[in-house]
Amino acid sequence: MECQNQDVDCSDGKRIKLDSSHDSRMAASGRQFFVGGNWKMNGNTTSIDGIISFLTDGSLSGDQTEVVVAPPAIYLQYVRQKLLASVAVAAQNCYKEAKGAFTGENSAEMIKDVGCEWVILGHSERRHKFGETDELIGEKIAHALKAGLKVIACIGELLSERENGKTTEVVFKQSKAIAENVSDWNDVVIAYEPVWAIGTGKTATPDQAQEVHHQLRDWLSQNVSPDVSAKTRIIYGGSVTAANAHELALQPDIDGFLVGGASLKPDFVKIVQARSS
Ligand code: 13P
Repeated sequence: MECQNQDVDCSDGKRIKLDSSHDSRMAASGRQFFVGGNWKMNGNTTSIDGIISFLTDGSLSGDQTEVVVAPPAIYLQYVRQKLLASVAVAAQNCYKEAKGAFTGENSAEMIKDVGCEWVILGHSERRHKFGETDELIGEKIAHALKAGLKVIACIGELLSERENGKTTEVVFKQSKAIAENVSDWNDVVIAYEPVWAIGTGKTATPDQAQEVHHQLRDWLSQNVSPDVSAKTRIIYGGSVTAANAHELALQPDIDGFLVGGASLKPDFVKIVQARSS
């Protein structure tokens, strides 16, 4: 990493210059590592009991890592009642209204009512399989935050967009639609999930992920505030496994993970421990 601007003493006795990448690395020490498990449309009471037991038996790094699991909506209350209190529970989606004639939808108020604290919004599967627009996602985020839920707001580019050099254009546009609907960033985690890496086994390399996370942090600094940029967790999702989590977790702007497939397996505990391992 190139260093510019401010001089500092290094542990090896050399004097180096710091650039904004080092600034964000230092700020990283103030951001609690965050690992979410997105179960997607998987599980039944038997397999969920198995997940609850490996989460209960595993060492989840205590205060070091904030852990959240997102079961399908129908199991939210079941999981909340059986899971240890230190693991938070998220819904995978919610609607932008509190109640009413919206057949098949769940509201943020209902999610809170059954004891859950978080909701995932803007996941690429909602965007690309169910046609959710930036505008709808923004409205859902605004409503969920107002209702008192915390939000894991997802963004990420398609493979074709990356190949056409449009990654930043896409994720900045998605970020703008989110930022316009957030007043308190303490309740928001941004999940950068490149669509080409989701469920494909093709994880972004640590450098690829770090590059986008750093660009997102710069975007937050310029478009929201330097304070929000320094404090907001930006987590990575896309084929995270116990094998690749540690190296990704070493990147200065990667503050955790949103895990799909591997969150259904005992390996999830190793991913939670990735920062400390
Ligand atoms: P995978 O970890 O299965 O690639 O899924 C990532 C994801 O979509 C998490 O929200």
